[in-house]
Amino acid sequence: MGRVALVTGGSRGIGEAISKKLKEDGYTVAATYAGNDEAAAKFTETTGIKTYKWNVADYESSKTGIAKVEEELGPIEVVVANAGITRDAPFHKMTPDQWKEVIDTNLTGVFNTIHPIWPGMRERKFGRVIVISSINGQKGQFAQVNYAATKAGDLGIIKSLAQEGARAGITANAVCPGYIATEMVMAVPEKVRESIISQIPAGRLGEPEEIARCVAFLASDDSGFVNGSTISANGAQFFV
Ligand code: CAA
Repeated sequence: MGRVALVTGGSRGIGEAISKKLKEDGYTVAATYAGNDEAAAKFTETTGIKTYKWNVADYESSKTGIAKVEEELGPIEVVVANAGITRDAPFHKMTPDQWKEVIDTNLTGVFNTIHPIWPGMRERKFGRVIVISSINGQKGQFAQVNYAATKAGDLGIIKSLAQEGARAGITANAVCPGYIATEMVMAVPEKVRESIISQIPAGRLGEPEEIARCVAFLASDDSGFVNGSTISANGAQFFV
């Protein structure tokens, strides 16, 4: 049995590709999902990867869910905080609820995911923390004040955790995907999406597997001195 890897939002979109890639690389993978039972069941049936249902926005649910994963599969050595949502609206139309939902899931959800796992990583003197941020956390985005704030916040989280975990053998890094061909990007109005693609020098959307391969590197033993870093995978759309 390989190392245990937890991927939040791991049954669909970029998370699905990450779960599959880590399994292929020999990890025992646990994928969480928030609500879509049907998609999760289909995912487990086709991949053999176990799924667990909890809301990352809720600390107690995360803690209980993580304890269950560790009881069933063993200590989590790799955690990929991937679960995220969008509630896009120009700022003058953004409601406090749209702000709160995105902060609770994308930012507090990252805290809730890593915090219960962190003490065990410190004790065992090994851990890989990987957070899926976004190009829009690096550059901002029209209609995404909420989302961009959370994705920029992710970068603050990993840079701080990197310093706290370095001596305990724990690394914390982020991947900033650009626009990837997932349901989330397909939900953007077609005209807007076409205009976005025209701004990507690669001339295309990225594939979820291209993000999964970045995560696989950060999870591996090869990346031990890479800590507090961000891998941008965006087809040359934006440079930090
Ligand atoms: N830059 C500048 N202006 C923009 C714009 C942009 N990127 N997008 C829209 N606008 C303008 C429109 O041209 C329009 O202008 P006019 O009023 O002069 O015609 C105006 O903003 C739209 O205003 P509306 O009041 O009609 O907007 P709306 O309330 O209907 O909202 C929207 C529309 C939610 C902004 C919609 O355009 C949208 O979803 N945009 C995409 C936002 C986006 O890129 N989200 C990223 C999702 S993918 C993701 O998040 C994954 C990742 O990490 C990369």
